[in-house]
Amino acid sequence: MPSRPTTLILPGNEAFGRGIADVLGGPCTDAGVHAFPDGETRVRIDPGLDYRFTVVVCSLFRPNERILPLIFACEALREHGAEAVILAAPYLGYMRQDVAFHPGEAVSARIFARLLDDWFDGLVTVDPHLHRIPSLDRLFAKPARAVAAAPAISGWVKDTVPDPLFVGPDSESLQWVKRLADGCGAPHVVMSKERHGDRDVRIAAPNLRAHAGRTPVIVDDIISSGATLVAAVEQVRAAGLPAPVCIGVHGLFSDDCLGRLSAAGAGRVVTCNTVPHATNAIDVAPLVAREARGLIEALYGG
Ligand code: R5P
Repeated sequence: MPSRPTTLILPGNEAFGRGIADVLGGPCTDAGVHAFPDGETRVRIDPGLDYRFTVVVCSLFRPNERILPLIFACEALREHGAEAVILAAPYLGYMRQDVAFHPGEAVSARIFARLLDDWFDGLVTVDPHLHRIPSLDRLFAKPARAVAAAPAISGWVKDTVPDPLFVGPDSESLQWVKRLADGCGAPHVVMSKERHGDRDVRIAAPNLRAHAGRTPVIVDDIISSGATLVAAVEQVRAAGLPAPVCIGVHGLFSDDCLGRLSAAGAGRVVTCNTVPHATNAIDVAPLVAREARGLIEALYGG
């Protein structure tokens, strides 16, 4: 393997992609994506680079509009000498539909994984939403690695929030909230959530008053409609605690999510930079880059 793989960046991933390339140390280039008037797409890569080992950077939020340009870019790389193409997708979409919740539903997590398997030699992502499927290797046939954002989030909280109380909005969040709390030597609590619809979430909280004097830090893996965080913020404020810091690993921010969080009494809202957004404050690109380099070395020799 050349010691320095090339980084190819899909549009919208420029800052994260440069962060990856800084660690990998090889050439870095942008894929040119042109939208034709009829909605079709042309993808072009610089034909003059060494693509034998390439890390393609493309966060897969709003995946329907991203997947075809990504596949076109991958095929262009193969036609220009790529032997190994590793996808760095800091946010991996479609992981939440991991079973048929109702008869007749397609299990998109499996289908999406199979599609990526067909095109890429390996994948690196950040905290994928794995709930009923325990690990990525149950979904992907090719090597797929999940980077934990927890060390970067812990670092940010230690530097920024005095006396934190970590709050998980639902039972699924226990895994990362406990890890963060332990990393910061702080207490944690976990709420219980019932979802009645895309934007209809009800949350019950344990006794929060016992933690008066601490700054609540609510952490969720995904902020989508914001319904989960809004309900959690309401519980925190109803218990008389100060405005909580809200942290999302992946901030998708559908609807007027930030406005509703503010109206509910949230304090600062921050996210990791897996999905580009004004709230990005926690950089996980170096973690992803190191994992991608490790994956290439494991597959093709260091
Ligand atoms: C759910 O299982 C996830 O961990 C998040 O809590 C959820 O995706 C958040 O979605 P929303 O912001 O729409 O409530």
